[in-house]
Amino acid sequence: MLRVETKIVTTLSPKRYAHCKSTGETAAMLSDRFGVDRRAGYLAGIAHDMCRELSFEEQEQLVDRYGACIAFLRGRPSLEALFSDTEYRKKMIHGPAAACMLCHEFNVEEPDILEAVALHSIADETMSDMAKIVYISDKLEPLRSRPQDADEKLHTLDLASLFVYTIACVVHWFAESGKSLSPFTADLYSRMLK
Ligand SMILES: [Fe+2]
Ligand SMILES: [Fe+2]
Repeated sequence: MLRVETKIVTTLSPKRYAHCKSTGETAAMLSDRFGVDRRAGYLAGIAHDMCRELSFEEQEQLVDRYGACIAFLRGRPSLEALFSDTEYRKKMIHGPAAACMLCHEFNVEEPDILEAVALHSIADETMSDMAKIVYISDKLEPLRSRPQDADEKLHTLDLASLFVYTIACVVHWFAESGKSLSPFTADLYSRMLK
């Protein structure tokens, strides 16, 4: 844990480090609420963006070299969508790259942690509780501009409802900013509303 945190604080910009730390703290709080291992939630939370400031080529290289670390996720439609879409691959491969780095460089082998980190920007409905917690924490940690009721929701909603609430926030942010949402996330949201 200490080594991972040292790596993050020494390689990321102060702003991104603060986001990672805040994501870790939010994930730890939610882990307590939902009966998940708090230490693992914190670790996945702080590590989720650890490769975000590497070049795309460096991120690709990590996945090419150490992809065996996340081989257990192969065939997951979310991960396949992430890899096969050239536009979103660029934006989202930092998740799988961070999972590979955690596993290769820091010997983290817990599947829930690697899954949470690898899928934190795409998400799917079969994610483990921990992966949902990290997804939610990344989007709703207090340093983000978030809806006024986000903190209340974080402390009161059950995990399934909080996950839907978070995806709705993401869909809303993309619509508001005019940025395009990945087709996989858009489909996920419409499936969840059914
Ligand atoms: Fe990210
Ligand atoms: Fe993030």
